[in-house]
Amino acid sequence: MNYTEALALLEKYSQTQVLKYYDELDTEGKERLLRQIESLDWTLPSLLNRDEEEIKRGKLEPLGALTVSDIENRLEEFENAGIEALKAGKVGAVLLAGGQGTRLGHDGPKGTYCIGVNRELYIFECLINNMMKVVNRTGCFMHLYIMTSEINNDITVNFFKEHDYFGYDPEYIHFFVQEMAPAVSYDGKVLLEAKDRIAISPNGNGGWYRSLKLAGLVEHIKEVGITHISTFAVDNVLQQINDPAFVGASVLSGADCCAKVIRKNHPEEKIGVLCLEDGHPSIVEYYEITEEMKTLRDEAGELVYTFGVILNYMFSIDFLERTAENGLVFHLVNKKVPYIDENGNKVSPSEPNAIKFEQLVLDMVHLTNTCLAYEIVREKEFAPVKNPTGVDSVESARELLIKNGVEI
Ligand code: UTP
Repeated sequence: MNYTEALALLEKYSQTQVLKYYDELDTEGKERLLRQIESLDWTLPSLLNRDEEEIKRGKLEPLGALTVSDIENRLEEFENAGIEALKAGKVGAVLLAGGQGTRLGHDGPKGTYCIGVNRELYIFECLINNMMKVVNRTGCFMHLYIMTSEINNDITVNFFKEHDYFGYDPEYIHFFVQEMAPAVSYDGKVLLEAKDRIAISPNGNGGWYRSLKLAGLVEHIKEVGITHISTFAVDNVLQQINDPAFVGASVLSGADCCAKVIRKNHPEEKIGVLCLEDGHPSIVEYYEITEEMKTLRDEAGELVYTFGVILNYMFSIDFLERTAENGLVFHLVNKKVPYIDENGNKVSPSEPNAIKFEQLVLDMVHLTNTCLAYEIVREKEFAPVKNPTGVDSVESARELLIKNGVEI
């Protein structure tokens, strides 16, 4: 894209301010800025004027789950089916590692954080160790697709290389980079982070399938014969990935999606809950759920809306091919975004000053026709590292690792 084309595009979307310092830039800076302008979706800022009615929720109803005891009763059947699918190479996994991990505040990709106390033990290493349990049981590696962002890709790729992929076969590891979205001021103007750079951020974890496709890896999935693929977050160090029982339950169910869920600890727990929305599986976020839904109990005194998602889903490739790219809404998220002002001065805001645009994996669930909720034992599989201390933190994750016999 040349300058004239860029200007025409920006005029169309009333965003010409991003070219304000163009004449001051050297050739390299000019090219960099033009490349960025070409790569971004300029329709996103108009979402600030979206009619919120368009994304209003439908009628919500509870959705049951395959409970821990249901799973125990059918364990052999599930595990046999899972092992068969894993041995046949039909199951892949996508590690969502494109986030910025701002709450943790670690200088580097979240997976490179050392959770060990007396020894080196990185978050990425914990996840690979958990996958190796399945590899050792089946004797087969699973293809692992790792989504990074423009911001953390090189560090992530090098980190894996430097650590010999923590013993995983590198032939089965494929990195791909997610798309980015511009950050926009509250008056709808795309911000500059430097004179030659637009302020951008990863566009949420929901764009993973589109990014996988853009990277040519959907072709790879088809070539190697994968029929089911799980997606999981980087920050749950007890995350069990593609464990045979979960794989078996997913495959046997024939569902578009199978979601690992935990029972809510208490009505106020900040976790999205799986339910039905207008008859379709759907997830209601903790900040959307009404007081009535939050506290509703059945005759046995159990919370009715109790099954919370932990960002570990198994999708069928049939479903992904059919639907996954369509209709994912963008969420508008308030963030603190450093920028340069109209005088060219750098500003580091102490309060949120801008909107970021994010698509979320959980919205993919609503596109499915069927989603099987699969209950796991929280203490064994859920230790998210979101914050340095307190709830869902380094501290709480370390305690849970120790409880599960992991040396740290
Ligand atoms: P979070 O919602 O915890 O976001 O991501 P985050 O960016 O990692 O952390 P905070 O909110 O800034 O503290 C859940 C999962 O989705 C991935 C993250 O890497 C994590 O595994 N993710 C998030 C992406 O892959 N891309 C994104 O754009 C956002």
